[in-house]
Amino acid sequence: MADDAPVPVDACRETTTDLRRVGIAPDFWYPVAVSSTVRREGTFAAVFAGERIALYRGRSGKVYALEDRCAHRQVPLSMGVVEEETLRCCYHAWAYRGNGHISQIPYLPKGCERPPRGVRSYPVREAYGLVFVFPGNPEMAAAAPFPELPQFGAATHRTMTFSRTVRCHYSFMHENLLDMNHQFLHRSVLGRIQPELLGYESGPRFVEARYLFVPAGGRKDRGAGLLSAEGRGGRQTPDVVTIRTEYPYQTLQDVPTGAELPAFSLWTAYVPQDAEQRTCHAYGLLMIAKPPVPGLIHLAWPLIRRFTERVFAQDRMAVEAEQLAWDEQGEDRNHEVFPLILEVRNVLRTNGTPLRPEAATAEPLAVDGPATK
Ligand code: FES
Ligand SMILES: [Fe+2]
Repeated sequence: MADDAPVPVDACRETTTDLRRVGIAPDFWYPVAVSSTVRREGTFAAVFAGERIALYRGRSGKVYALEDRCAHRQVPLSMGVVEEETLRCCYHAWAYRGNGHISQIPYLPKGCERPPRGVRSYPVREAYGLVFVFPGNPEMAAAAPFPELPQFGAATHRTMTFSRTVRCHYSFMHENLLDMNHQFLHRSVLGRIQPELLGYESGPRFVEARYLFVPAGGRKDRGAGLLSAEGRGGRQTPDVVTIRTEYPYQTLQDVPTGAELPAFSLWTAYVPQDAEQRTCHAYGLLMIAKPPVPGLIHLAWPLIRRFTERVFAQDRMAVEAEQLAWDEQGEDRNHEVFPLILEVRNVLRTNGTPLRPEAATAEPLAVDGPATK
């Protein structure tokens, strides 16, 4: 939709599938671990929407991803032992290659054939300090878009990595970041900010919104200042913040007025954990342009980390409360009035996939309140 196009008459009404029952499309690359947690000759138990995935790093440094169930008796292969480039199950020591084929059954009687199939393997890519897998049709992996983050690793930027489990459907995360009308939630950290929607565009796979952030006073965390133009040695001017859901990822860029490059940019992916997709794992890469003063970024790093963690904790509190209400009511009873949020809900709905039947019809979960960590 163009910036100043009229809002469609029915834009504030939704009569279609409950978005919280829409599964994320599997034919994309999803991060499932921070690289450093998959040690050389070590394993890691990852998950995507209820599918358990055993990651392991061979002696060569290469990472492999296998279905996390031994073909023999279904014991998790992530409990196994890495030998060179193979993974040996901890129970009866069957060994698997990175492609999931069985390479050895130590006690196989002479003349007996190995079972014809091993376990499923997943395409794997490692980038930006994260391990990505392709959980969908492996034949589509090579052609699927892979996130391009030129600022990552550039000498001009430093990256802060986030990896947190959030107990909500991934759609709440997209709505939270795109709807900047929630700055009241962050008043204790950001001070008073007046976000003004400059305009937005949308297409079949994306929604992009541009906001003007005008500081309106009030106390704010020092980390917030360090990310602003003022704190980076410029004048106090409004920043233009661009937020984009490009299915299934999301980005945010803050460009100070008059600047060519963003002061900071964020890339995120929200990876469903359980089959019902009521919990996701948020992976975030916050890429911050270094200020001209050498070493200042390193001094400021703990403050920026503290600031972002405080903001994230407030957002997590809100989205987990939203999921809790959905669990209690068994359906989405939200009254959404912001057209661009209706647009992103539509993008997430039309690009998503039906949940597995048993997950889609499951009763609301027994709940014990939002997670505190
Ligand atoms: S369960 Fe894995 S080898 Fe027996
Ligand atoms: Fe927020």
